[in-house]
Amino acid sequence: MKTIFSGIQPSGVLTLGNYLGAMKNFVEVQEDHECYFCVVDQHAITVPQDRLELRKNIKSLAALYVASGIDPKKSTIFIQSEVPAHAQLGWMMQCVSYIGELERMTQFKDKSDGKEAVSSALLTYPPLMAADILLYKTDIVPVGEDQKQHLELTRNLAERFNKKYNDIFTIPEVKIAKVGARIMSLTEPTKKMSKSNPNPKSYVSMLDDEKQIIKKIKSAVTDSDNKVTFDIENKPGVSNLLTIYSLCSGTSIPDLEERYKDSGYGPFKADVADAVVQTLKPIQERYDQLLESGELDDILDEGAEKANATSFKMLKKAEKAMGLGRKRN
Ligand code: TYM
Repeated sequence: MKTIFSGIQPSGVLTLGNYLGAMKNFVEVQEDHECYFCVVDQHAITVPQDRLELRKNIKSLAALYVASGIDPKKSTIFIQSEVPAHAQLGWMMQCVSYIGELERMTQFKDKSDGKEAVSSALLTYPPLMAADILLYKTDIVPVGEDQKQHLELTRNLAERFNKKYNDIFTIPEVKIAKVGARIMSLTEPTKKMSKSNPNPKSYVSMLDDEKQIIKKIKSAVTDSDNKVTFDIENKPGVSNLLTIYSLCSGTSIPDLEERYKDSGYGPFKADVADAVVQTLKPIQERYDQLLESGELDDILDEGAEKANATSFKMLKKAEKAMGLGRKRN
C-alpha cells in the first residue's frame, strides 16, 4: 500500500481554498493508502503567532481534519511538535540545502518582500517540510498548486541526500488536483484565496455561518457581461465560482455552464452559496461536537504515538547515514 503525507498550518482560520485544494482530497485518498495528516505547528511559528491563538488553532485544525471525514481509524492525525523527529531531521535537511535554492522559493520571496525583520526560519522552512515528508517513506503528497515548488525542492534534497550519504529516502510524488488546486480570492480573483489576507471578504472560512457565506459569495467580484462561462483569463471571478460550485456539488463545470446559460449572475451566485453552505454545514456540526468532547485528545495522543514510532526509525537511519551519534562498543 502506498503512503501519503500532507500537512496544513494552524495559522488563522482555514479557508474554502484549504478545504477544496487539500483537505477534501485527503478524505478521498485515505480509503486505499496509508495516510499521515499533520498539524504543522512548527511551520506556523516561522511568522509571529499569538501563543493562545496558536494553541486554539492547533486543536481547531485537528477537529476540522476529523470533522471533514478523515477517519482516525484509517489515517494517522497528529501535531508536528509532538513528534520531535520532524525538527531533528529538519535540521539535517537544512545541512544539505543551499541558501541560494532556498532564496529562490517564491513563497519566501513573497513573505519576506519589503520586510526588515524576517525570521531565518522563513528561509529554512522548506527543509523542515522535506523532513515531514521523508520521515514516513512517503510516496504521494497531495497539496494545492502553491506547494509545488516546495515539493520539487523536497525531491531534490532527498536525491542529494541519497547520493551523498546512503540511499534511504523514498522520492515522493506530488499530487495536485485537476480542479480546485488554486481557489482564488473572492475580491481579487487573480490572486490565491488565502487565510493571511486581512480582508475577510476575500475568503470563505470553513467556520463561516450561512449568512456570512451568502453575503461573501453574493459580493464576489465577477465582471459585467453576465454570462456564466468558464474562462480563467477573461472571466477569473466567474471561473472561480464555477470551480467552487462544481467541487461542492459534484456537478461538472460544462454541466453547470449549460444549466446557467440563460440565468445571469444573481441566481447563479445564490446557488453557489447554497452549495457551499451544504458542504460546510455538516462539517461545522461535527466540529462543534468534537471540540466539546475528549475524543479529539485521544485521537491526537494515538496519532502522536504512531507517528513517533514510524518516524523514529527513519530518523535513526538518517543519523547513521550522516555519521551522527556513536556506535556502542
Ligand atoms: P498551507 O497551510 O498554506 O495550506 C494547506 C494546504 O492547502 C492548500 N491551499 C490551497 N489550495 C487551493 N486553493 C487555495 N487558495 C489554497 N490555499 C492553500 C495548500 O496548497 C496546502 O496543500 N507548507 C505547507 C504545509 C506543510 C506541508 C508539509 C504540506 C508543511 N509540511 C508536508 C505537505 C507536506 C503550507 O504552508 O500549507
